[in-house]
Amino acid sequence: MRRQNHSLFNSLSLALLLIMILAPGCNKSEPGNRSGDGSEKKTKSNFTIGMSQCNLGEPWRVEMNAQIKDAADRHPELKVIFKDAQNDTLKQRAHVEEFVSAGVDLIIISPKEAQPLTEPVAKAMEAHIPVIVLDRRLLGDKYSCFIGADNKKIGHAAGGWIVKKLGGKGKVVELKGLMTSTPGQDRNSGFREAIAGSGIEVVFDADMKWLEPDARKEMESALSRFPKIDCVYAHNDPGAHGAFLAAQAAGRQKEMIFVGIDALPQEGIAYVKQGILDATFQYPTGGAEAIDNALKILHRESVPKEITLGSRVFDKENVASGGLELK
Ligand code: FRU
Repeated sequence: MRRQNHSLFNSLSLALLLIMILAPGCNKSEPGNRSGDGSEKKTKSNFTIGMSQCNLGEPWRVEMNAQIKDAADRHPELKVIFKDAQNDTLKQRAHVEEFVSAGVDLIIISPKEAQPLTEPVAKAMEAHIPVIVLDRRLLGDKYSCFIGADNKKIGHAAGGWIVKKLGGKGKVVELKGLMTSTPGQDRNSGFREAIAGSGIEVVFDADMKWLEPDARKEMESALSRFPKIDCVYAHNDPGAHGAFLAAQAAGRQKEMIFVGIDALPQEGIAYVKQGILDATFQYPTGGAEAIDNALKILHRESVPKEITLGSRVFDKENVASGGLELK
């Protein structure tokens, strides 16, 4: 009898233990707004968004996160979890995988590089977690929506601006953004197309990986090799600023013009106002648009696959009046 009671007690505790283990597990196995059988749950009203940022080293990315936070804070039903990959591709892959295992409702990613981040995002989509890709592209089309400005157009406009400013000829140093990321590729090809056939010659180019210290170092080699440089075209404002500092240290900053991209008010636009840069082209972060579209996706509304943000040029002539829109 005692023995029977004992085994009854054992079976009951086992059953209880199983319920405790399985019950929360069931919830977790419902990624996003879906129930286990794939049907939609109409009742869900709070959502968790995972935001995978490739790095927070540049002010531009700090601004992107701040815009996302501001926009999300206006919607109490949204919770955003931010992860910073610190410019490490493997870490960023792991972050996306972690968001998938945690069963977030939606992922926003600004990927460091195209190729290595394509697969983890495709896997998130396969797990029915919608993904918004911001600023840098992935390969293929396994994502819900891409938001970013047209980098080829911006590179082309920068090229046209430089051709005009230099009167059709001159020696240019091109400091490129990370060439395994799509903005670097597009800002290069757009620029090269715009200067083709003119007397503008690129005498030196290097991949400064979007980083100001790298740009400064590359510019030091350009300065030591070329006694005459008319212009530095850098794929971002930190790069243009690094080049300016190198030229200034060599006492040569007045001999050339400096052109960058991003045009944050406290960075590129301030540099133009201070006479450090001659022009900067705006590259909006798209943070607010990411939250607008995330909300639509979470509420089952359709969004465009591609959202192209506009851009403006800021130079000495127009900076006081708010720059000029790129047509
Ligand atoms: C910041 C940044 C910006 C640039 C963008 C391109 O990490 O380098 O300066 O415009 O990324 O993706």
